[in-house]
Amino acid sequence: MTDDILIRAAEISKTYKTMVDEVMVFEKQSIEIGRGTAVAIIGESGCGKTTLLNILSGLDNPSEGSIMFDNQRIDVMDERELAIFRNKNVGFIFQHHYLLQDFHALDNILLPLRIAGVKLDNARLEKVWEMLEKIGLKDRAYHFPDQLSGGERQRIAIARALANDPVVVFADEPTGSLDRRNAGTVEDLLWRLKLDFNKTFVIATHNPDIAHKCDQVIELK
Ligand SMILES: Nc1ncnc2c1ncn2[C@@H]1O[C@H](COP(=O)(O)OP(=O)(O)OP(=O)(O)O)[C@@H](O)[C@H]1O
Ligand SMILES: [Mg+2]
Repeated sequence: MTDDILIRAAEISKTYKTMVDEVMVFEKQSIEIGRGTAVAIIGESGCGKTTLLNILSGLDNPSEGSIMFDNQRIDVMDERELAIFRNKNVGFIFQHHYLLQDFHALDNILLPLRIAGVKLDNARLEKVWEMLEKIGLKDRAYHFPDQLSGGERQRIAIARALANDPVVVFADEPTGSLDRRNAGTVEDLLWRLKLDFNKTFVIATHNPDIAHKCDQVIELK
């Protein structure tokens, strides 16, 4: 039987040490994220949403506690193991798109596949073109980031996050840097892709519309 829980964080705490002090962001949080569900992480600025996403996705380690991902403990992995884990399982969407300026949209989407050493045969490229079609940007494939609108850049960043066919997509305020109309378009796209691909989505957001549509809402205090 497959486990319905994809990610289990047990009693995780996070303390950042700086030159002058220690910042305790959260203490003994336990979280379960169901496979194929959409989970919103909400709370005031500075409450630890980004910190939590980074820990759940294996970009950072908790100070205490454990993270099980699909019955693998990721908090004990070394950097190399984590890089392999992330390449295989995780897609990221950030508030700012972080597209590479010197690469056109198509090459930006292909980047994670190239890094993961995936063979870019015709079948694979066809999938990427299907994705471009889904996000409505087939005719912008050879545009460089500065030749795209803000909303288009974010849609390309979403396609890049999904290119690797990850198990889970982590999004940190994916509509945070967009105006209302573009935020709406990107939001609609996220839901469409969520339904189409049936992936697990973990989204840190200030946007009540997004949180409202999620299966689970985690509020950090
Ligand atoms: N590397 C770091 N070193 C020390 N303190 C940090 C570090 N990163 C974040 N913090 C602190 O930890 C707290 C949580 O930060 P985090 O970025 O997770 O908040 P957030 O909920 O994502 O906020 P926002 O909504 O503004 O993005 C903040 O008070 C922040 O100042
Ligand atoms: Mg944040």
